[in-house]
Amino acid sequence: MTKLKIAIQKKGRLNEGSVDLLKKCGLKIEKSRNKLIIPCPSENIELLLVRDDDIPLYLENNIADIAILGLNEMKESSFEANMEVLRYLDFAKCRLSLAAISGQDLKLENSSIATSYPKVLKEYLKSEKINANVIEISGCVEIAPRVGISDYICDLVSTGATLRANGLEEMLSILDSEAVLIKKTSPLATGKQKILERLEARIESVLGARNTKYIMMNAPIESANKIASFLSSMEAPTILPLLNDSEKVAIHAATREDKVWSTIESLKELGASSILISSIEKVMV
Ligand code: PRP
Ligand code: ZN
Repeated sequence: MTKLKIAIQKKGRLNEGSVDLLKKCGLKIEKSRNKLIIPCPSENIELLLVRDDDIPLYLENNIADIAILGLNEMKESSFEANMEVLRYLDFAKCRLSLAAISGQDLKLENSSIATSYPKVLKEYLKSEKINANVIEISGCVEIAPRVGISDYICDLVSTGATLRANGLEEMLSILDSEAVLIKKTSPLATGKQKILERLEARIESVLGARNTKYIMMNAPIESANKIASFLSSMEAPTILPLLNDSEKVAIHAATREDKVWSTIESLKELGASSILISSIEKVMV
């Protein structure tokens, strides 16, 4: 039986988001602490739980068919040219930034920079025509400027808490990263490709729902058309009669989350009342 093998991070910043997304896509993932291969036979999928740094190697050698990885890790890989991003997944957002002991100016020319991401950093320095000494450290890079290993660091920043805790200041972001769904550029066998397409459609509906809210309100009949035009609905809004109130109607619509707040004032001005906003779990278009 054809199976699609998906590599995800076993533990770390991407694990929870990856498992959460795949569960919402219908995969039954029963994690036990040391289990590294998780079969999901009803979906013809097998999950491989591995170190994120090794994921490009698994794709390269066809051990995994697709993977969820941080964009920064993909760009750092020597196999980057053989991999493609299928979709940005909107979680594990962070950036690769240059930082130094607080209060310094950014003067990279002839400086030393400690990092766990030498490839991305060197590409940046080359593109900016900057000469600097890149010192590769495998982790806990934040210590480097404090103990005199380097002038600057280039590391992942998410909340900024690690930098602050070590008296460092973020100076310049060189790469925005987030979790991405990736595969090798070479085509998959037809059976695997079909399983992938089904999974991609499910991911689309889960992520689409995250940015969509369901909004319900009562409003005067004469405002209904104007209100409908305010709501960036996926389909035309639903208008329903109200019991014992012939002057008002109920209006229901799915709308983009980022539009909700900006439209609420306008809706009120048009006489809308009892405005309810609720989350949507999945959207099939
Ligand atoms: C990253 C990075 C920083 C920290 C930044 O480490 O190396 O140390 O996260 O996050 P913050 O801005 O929210 O404090 P990660 O947790 O990925 O572990 P690793 O570097 O050991 O892989
Ligand atoms: Zn890592």
